[in-house]
Amino acid sequence: MTKFILAIDQGTTSSRAILFDRAGHIHGAAQQEFRQFFPQPGWVEHDANEIWQSQRAVIDEVLRSNGVPASDIAAIGIANQRETTVLWDRATGEPVAPAIVWQDRRSTPCCEELRADGHEDLFQQKTGLVLDAYFSGPKLKWLLDNVPGARARAERGELAFGTVDSWLIFKMSGKHLTDPSNAARTLMFNIHTARWDDELLALLDISPGLLPEVVASSGVAAHTDARLFGVAVPIAGIAGDQQAATFGQACHSPGMAKNTYGTGCFMLMHTGQTATISQNKLISTIGWTLPKGTDYLLEGSVFMAGAAIQWLRDGLGIIKSAAEVEELALAVPDNGGVLFVPAFAGLGAPHWDAYARGTMVGMTRGTNKSHIARATLESIALQSADVLDAMQADAAMPLTQLRVDGGAARNNLLMQFQADILGVPVVRPVVTETTALGAAFLAGLAVGFWASQEEIAAQWQMERRFEPAMAKDERAQRMGEWRRAVERSRAWSQ
Ligand code: G3P
Repeated sequence: MTKFILAIDQGTTSSRAILFDRAGHIHGAAQQEFRQFFPQPGWVEHDANEIWQSQRAVIDEVLRSNGVPASDIAAIGIANQRETTVLWDRATGEPVAPAIVWQDRRSTPCCEELRADGHEDLFQQKTGLVLDAYFSGPKLKWLLDNVPGARARAERGELAFGTVDSWLIFKMSGKHLTDPSNAARTLMFNIHTARWDDELLALLDISPGLLPEVVASSGVAAHTDARLFGVAVPIAGIAGDQQAATFGQACHSPGMAKNTYGTGCFMLMHTGQTATISQNKLISTIGWTLPKGTDYLLEGSVFMAGAAIQWLRDGLGIIKSAAEVEELALAVPDNGGVLFVPAFAGLGAPHWDAYARGTMVGMTRGTNKSHIARATLESIALQSADVLDAMQADAAMPLTQLRVDGGAARNNLLMQFQADILGVPVVRPVVTETTALGAAFLAGLAVGFWASQEEIAAQWQMERRFEPAMAKDERAQRMGEWRRAVERSRAWSQ
């Protein structure tokens, strides 16, 4: 009998491979960071080959170091950084350009043109998204318009587009596929009919021949080439990392929500089996498609969270590792009046300002690096509070608790401040690797490794609950200050 599900968690800054056993426990994990390229202000690129190589390396490593043969793997589940756009040659399997990362702002002019031509509503109604450079369609258009010969080659059927899930599946199996949760991030996919949309494709000038086939999030979609791992392993789960985390957090029924503290911060709330189009600048997205149907989510996407802590480490050099930030922040009793808006790549939900830039206000001669560390941690929670306000305004029912996960969810100072500033309890599970766990669950359900969603939900266990302790007045005052700081960051680079 096969013993494990192998989850691939291909994130923005690292590739990970995690083995889960039947109890949903981690049996082994391997991780590798890969390079980030910033060739121009506002641009962020990855080398798609390096993504694949690092992913392959960690799969090999997790199997080898745990003495697990590939024949012990029941199925592979993939969770991936979303929206990042890869364009490759179908015949050679080589990318034709660097991958354009979700944080990249270069396709803002394309979005502005579409908006000026009055198409914003059409895109929102059909895709649930805001017309923003964040999503894949405008990035793909940029590649077709700017990579020499790309458009002509695309018209001859020589090229393939994919988000990172598609790219990895192509590398592992030769198949060109994606799932609805990833397709829903492209501005090219109708989330109500769950099909690529010809009208939107025409507006973006993208030929349908470039697009992957859309298959269910949970179901055997392909098998790995037997030469890769020694045996052909079914690829049976595919989801964008944030939707996977929502599934892994067992937020399976309307009103349940999670916030993942990764490179960015993504709050997603389950809204049922039909899409709720946001009135408050959130996005509606497909969560996952199971044999019994499609679940929809409301999402608030914050672009900079853990990335702001990384900047303290790599940009300012005031910490040596991300884990040091809590200690540094605790060296002062409060932020000393410093507020930091880490709008390095503009602001996502609910502001959607591509021209906002990082802004620090309130510094005095007494400001030191601890205040900056504290303001950075607080900025993560404050951005999430803006999103929660919008979510509460959109949602039919008030949020009673927020499940949290991701690297920075281990930071107790941040989690307590998050509960305080939201006025809502924050609940941390035992397994905070919920992105990988969600992908594993989707794959395991498809191959009968787990019997039902109920069995999975029963595995979810709380580790710690943070109760809000801040007085209402103070919360209102802190949010007021934050909104003034955000105003100062807006439209800066326009
Ligand atoms: O939409 C971008 C998101 O998928 C990135 O997630 O975990 O790499 O920050 P992460």
